[in-house]
Order: sequence, then structure tokens, then C-alpha cells
Amino acid sequence: MANATAGMVSPHVPGMRTGGRDMARLGMVRCWCRARRGKVMCAAPPSSVNGDVLMGNDVSKPRSLPRVVGMGSKLIGCGSAVPKFEISNDDMAEIVETSDEWISVRTGIHKRRVLTGEESVKGLAIEAGKKALEMAHVEPDEVDLVILCTSTPDDLFGTGAQVHTALGCKNAWAFDATAACSGFLVGLITATRFIKGGGYKNVLVIGADSLSRYVDWTDRGTCILFGDGAGAVLVQATAAEEDGFLGFDFHSDGQGYRHLNAKTSVGGTEEVIPSTNGSINFPPKKPAFSFIQMNGKEVFRFAVSSVPRSIVASLEEAGLTNSDIDWLLLHQANWRIIDAVATRLQIPSEKIISNLANYGNTSAASIPLALDEAVRGGKVKGGDIIAASGFGAGLTWGSAIMRWQ
Ligand code: ACO
Repeated sequence: MANATAGMVSPHVPGMRTGGRDMARLGMVRCWCRARRGKVMCAAPPSSVNGDVLMGNDVSKPRSLPRVVGMGSKLIGCGSAVPKFEISNDDMAEIVETSDEWISVRTGIHKRRVLTGEESVKGLAIEAGKKALEMAHVEPDEVDLVILCTSTPDDLFGTGAQVHTALGCKNAWAFDATAACSGFLVGLITATRFIKGGGYKNVLVIGADSLSRYVDWTDRGTCILFGDGAGAVLVQATAAEEDGFLGFDFHSDGQGYRHLNAKTSVGGTEEVIPSTNGSINFPPKKPAFSFIQMNGKEVFRFAVSSVPRSIVASLEEAGLTNSDIDWLLLHQANWRIIDAVATRLQIPSEKIISNLANYGNTSAASIPLALDEAVRGGKVKGGDIIAASGFGAGLTWGSAIMRWQ
């Protein structure tokens, strides 16, 4: 990211169509700004030194550069969608050697939904996005950017553009973001950066996944865990002093890749170019991915140690403590992980949001899906502080402290 003295130039500012007037209305009072040919150039004064997203290892360190633009952002709408077909634990026991008791006790999962027939990740994403726009009272053509967080797009090249077009977001552009079960958090952080540094006004962040397509339905160690679904939020620009995203923390560790992955496998080769020294096998017969491979115990250990540390780092950035948290909203992977993290953070169980029992692990969809149910169910109210954390393949993990509306 450019530093403050260099000045920050937004390449494209679809949300700021009226330039300076909109910026003033949205409270960019602490930024030096000027509009030129539809572009907004902003640089923060030295006093706006605050923070930016930490990437890299698991050590929280001071930020090296000041935040460039002081624009705030907030969550103003959410929505979700799940497939029709439901599989209970008893149904699972018909497929693999397991039992309702084993699954419930070890994971907290009772049932899950999976895509069937004509259903698709795209369809779920569209439905969730539409509901989020409706709750936010934002018209599709007011959206500047759609981020589809998914590891399982309907098309290898991405599905986000199809989603944004189907939603009628004709003034937006779209891309897919892949970070497995941390994907939604990555999308959220990215949305706030486009608002803070890019002058965007409305960003639709959708988490949608169908890991049921990549699960080995004969492997009882993994197939009982996953389900399909989608959740979405609308992130909108707001005055800096009303910023609803209070702290972030994010990490990745490629060493941990071996514990959880679904590798590409070319599925055999044609001997058009013969293997000479054992290194050439070309061309591939059929592109494919392997089933999800997971070392459950290692992933469990990683989650219960890394997630609390990440939430504490986010709280520190936000200038808050664990007692300020109204809701703990973790990636819905396993109730024992959620419970262990809550215990470590001394957060009482009544402050935990969880719908894992009904949907299993829906990867990038799990956080917005649970948020949507909690908001529509009247649990989460305006002004509530939510500590959200995602973790999963990569390995990747991170957290955000955010205010609902
Ligand atoms: N039903 C019955 N028995 C089973 C089942 C099952 N579904 N699965 C495994 N077992 C058996 C094993 O074969 C083993 O038997 P053995 O003792 O005779 O060898 C025994 O149960 C214990 O198996 P473990 O794998 O050691 O069980 P564990 O207590 O670790 O629980 C679990 C497994 C639930 C997967 C747990 O490790 C876990 O939840 N880990 C976290 C996984 C996770 O969160 N992954 C998602 C990450 S998000 C993403 O990015 C995709």
C-alpha cells in the first residue's frame, strides 16, 4: 500500500459519483481529498495513523504504514440461502459406518444441506446476495463491487461475475476470493479496503461453498462434517468516526497445508510425449481435484490455539477487551472448537452464535449464514459488537471485530 506522503489515487470511484459532495456527506472530513475527472485523490493527515491488515505469520506486529484514507465502513444488510436437500446424521449412518451419537458428540452437527439437481453455488450466492441488498435497502445498480468468497466456484475461472450480472449490479465489477473457510473474512477485509482506500460506497460480500462436491462420501472422517450454503452482507461506506470495522487480524501458513487440502490431480496422462527421465507426463487426460484430505486432530489443535490469539489481536487493534464482545461468531466447523475458543476467551456460552447443528461446516458461507439467522432471529441488534473469526485450509485464519449496523 502506498504511504500517506505519496498520496493515494483511487483508480476508479463508482460509489462516489458526485465526487466531493458525497464524500462530505459520508464524513471524509479528516482526509485531504479532491475530485478530478471522476476520480478521488485522498491522503490522510499524519494524525490518521491507525492500522491496516496484518498478513503473514502468527506474530502481531505494529503496522509499518499509516492508514491512507480515513473512510469508515459498516454492515447494513445480510442474507443467506441453503440447498433444499437435507441429510441427517441417521442418513449419514446409511452411507458410512457412523452414528448420530458419534457425530453429535464429536462435532455438534446434527444435519447438513447439500446441492442436488439444478442447484448451484451461483444460485445460492444470488439468493443470499439479493436478500442482503433488500435488507440494506440498496438497489443492485448502487453496488460498486461484488466479492464472491468461495473455494468451490461453478467454474474454475470464477463465478462472481455471473452472480453480479444475475443480481443486476450493472455498475459493479466482481471477482472470486479463495481462502477456504477463512474466505468470508478475507472478503470482508477486502471490502473495507476498497471503501477506505478506493472510494467505493457499496460492496456486496458473498460467501458460498459446496464442499459436498469435493468430499469423499466413503470417508467417515470427513464426509460427516461438511454442508453447502451461502451467506452475504452489504458493506457500506460511512463517516470515519462511525466506522463499524474496529479491528482486523489475519494470517496464513503454507506449512500447515499438509493438514487440510484438496489438491489438483490431472487424472492420468496421454503418452503423446513419452516420459524420458521420469519427469515428463504430458498432456493430462482429465483435470480434476482430489477429495478433501484432512488431519482432523492437527486442524483441531491449530484452530483452538490460533483463533483466540487472533481475536485478542483484533480486540487490541479495536481498543477493546473480551468483555466488550456481545457475540462470538466463529467459522462453524466443530462445536468443540467453538466451545474451546470461547472458554479461552472467557466468553459465556449465551454470547455464542452457532447454527452448526443444522448445516455443518459450510466453509466460506458459515459466518454470514449464521450471522443472517442471528440478525433475522432478533438476537443480534444494531450497535452490537461481534467478534468473528475464520480458519481453515491454507492454512489461513483471521478475525474481525465489527459492529452490526
Ligand atoms: N463415525 C464413527 N467413528 C469415526 C468417525 C465417524 N464419522 N470418524 C472417525 N471415527 C473413528 C476413527 O476411525 C477412530 O477410530 P479408532 O480409534 O478405532 O482408530 C476414532 O473414531 C477417533 O478418530 P479421530 O479422527 O481421532 O477423532 P477425533 O476425535 O479427532 O474427531 C474430528 C474427528 C471430528 C474430525 C475432529 O478431529 C475435528 O473436528 N477436527 C477439526 C476438523 C475441522 O474443523 N475441519 C474443518 C476445517 S475448515 C476448512 O478449511 C475446510
